[in-house]
Amino acid sequence: MYDVYEIRKDFPVLQQKVNGKPNTFLDSGASAQKPQCVINRIYDIYTKEYSNVHRGSYMLSEQITWDYEEARKTVQKFLNAASHKEIVFTRNATEAINLVAATWGRKNLKPGDEVLISEAEHHANLVPWQMLRDELGCTLKIFKIGDDGSFIWEEFEKQLNPKTKLVAVTAMSNVLGTIFPIKEMAKAAHNAGALILADACQYAVHHPIDVQDMDCDFLAFSGHKTYGPTGIGVLYGKYDILDSMPPYQTGGDMVDHVTYEKTTFEEPPARFEAGTPAIVEAIGLGEALNYMMCVGLDNIVAHEKELVDYAFEKLSGIEGLKLVGTAEGKGGVFSFVMDDIHPQDLAFILNKEGVSVRVGHHCAEPLVHRMGYESVARASFGLYTTKEDIDCLAAALKKAKTFF
Ligand code: ALA
Repeated sequence: MYDVYEIRKDFPVLQQKVNGKPNTFLDSGASAQKPQCVINRIYDIYTKEYSNVHRGSYMLSEQITWDYEEARKTVQKFLNAASHKEIVFTRNATEAINLVAATWGRKNLKPGDEVLISEAEHHANLVPWQMLRDELGCTLKIFKIGDDGSFIWEEFEKQLNPKTKLVAVTAMSNVLGTIFPIKEMAKAAHNAGALILADACQYAVHHPIDVQDMDCDFLAFSGHKTYGPTGIGVLYGKYDILDSMPPYQTGGDMVDHVTYEKTTFEEPPARFEAGTPAIVEAIGLGEALNYMMCVGLDNIVAHEKELVDYAFEKLSGIEGLKLVGTAEGKGGVFSFVMDDIHPQDLAFILNKEGVSVRVGHHCAEPLVHRMGYESVARASFGLYTTKEDIDCLAAALKKAKTFF
């Protein structure tokens, strides 16, 4: 039984007032709040067992190394990866995608090869490929989405061809909420001889992931969006592919042997984790993913669907409000504009009512332009979001209207 009001009690920030009003936090898409268990775990590590990993022959280091590697196994379980060796800890999803571009990309792409992305990508899954195109002379292709933000299979298929070496796409748009059919896309990509990378930053917050069933070659997500700490993210990669890739950064902990003449490198995932990693953050992420699994991913999906239906109903009735991204089956991200009110002014008024939303191009400038705007406001949900939060948003929007 999913009791969102009980769940909210786990999140101390949600108990705080904002501008004297209840905290209507609708910016989980940018970064989610943290449950008490994650905060406690971080506190406990720093107070009871902190030291470095993989280096010390003493109790504290052995204990924390164990915890760090357990966190990797938790991520493996969360993604249903075949092995914990397929889980690379990175700084965030951005770094995970940059890692693939800089290593797999540089090694495998040449002039004439194509990387295929969609119009709905976050800058993190666009700019690294542009840089690589400019460096290597490969081609970056972009398939179109619908005016309502929907994924269109024919547009994707039209661009896929034997020259495509990588399909790199969002699993859920951070602006539109559109969900892409990664499993089917992976099948089509593989039939064309390409690999597929899924940016699961938003998707991982709301849906169970099974990388083996989806058959993706790479998948990236950020810890801070999945109720974990900042500074930690995940790159999943099929082991053989990771093993074929050169290192990303070099230094301590990722080497096998070093002489003044030559260096040999560790196997994955160590090969891609140079230097002291974000130890406490990785363990905190493990705690957050355990929290999500304990709440139950199926429950999270059902709760989000209820919120999405409710938000559609509530927001569609507001005069002068236009939703940006209304694809069927979309997730809990609602971008919108309101007649005669600049999104920044709108956010200012909402903030006075204790309602936190993000405004701007949401690190997806070409997408927001493609949808016909310079800037949009965005409300995004988390597992603690309630229908009352959406009521507060709707009431604040109606109030904003009276000022203009
Ligand atoms: N990518 C994050 C967002 O969509 C920061 O807000």
